[in-house]
Amino acid sequence: MTPQELVVCALDAQKHAYAPYSSFIVGAALLTRSGKVYKGCNIENKSFSPTVCAERVAIFKAISEGETEFEAIAVVGSYKDGTYKHFCAPCGVCRQVLSEFCAPDFKIVLGDDSGDCEVHTLAELLPQAFAL
Ligand code: THU
Repeated sequence: MTPQELVVCALDAQKHAYAPYSSFIVGAALLTRSGKVYKGCNIENKSFSPTVCAERVAIFKAISEGETEFEAIAVVGSYKDGTYKHFCAPCGVCRQVLSEFCAPDFKIVLGDDSGDCEVHTLAELLPQAFAL
């Protein structure tokens, strides 16, 4: 699967985002080494702290289904009105969660609805990750 194809999956996941408080909708698509895609969207809560990011929804879905080998994740984020100000990079908490299950060369694809994307590695976005 190409990075652009994975971005299309993330755009599909973004349609289900529940973001009545921030109006910022995020979609993520996680590709396993076997070629399966797990999608996630952000899900907010009126008490705020239970809000979960799209990336964590995707990886927790995959882990809970027994997946252990991951290739890449694509992330898209925009305001509800369709404005993409910049590529939406995973927050620090999501980077830490990804580092629990993914190798340093795991790819993080940042995209939008224009077909444009950039590809980073987890090691690039989370240098000197915490390790026990
Ligand atoms: N959000 C994500 O889904 N992923 C990120 O990596 C950053 C932020 C969500 C959380 C919240 O619902 C909204 O974006 C605004 O912070």
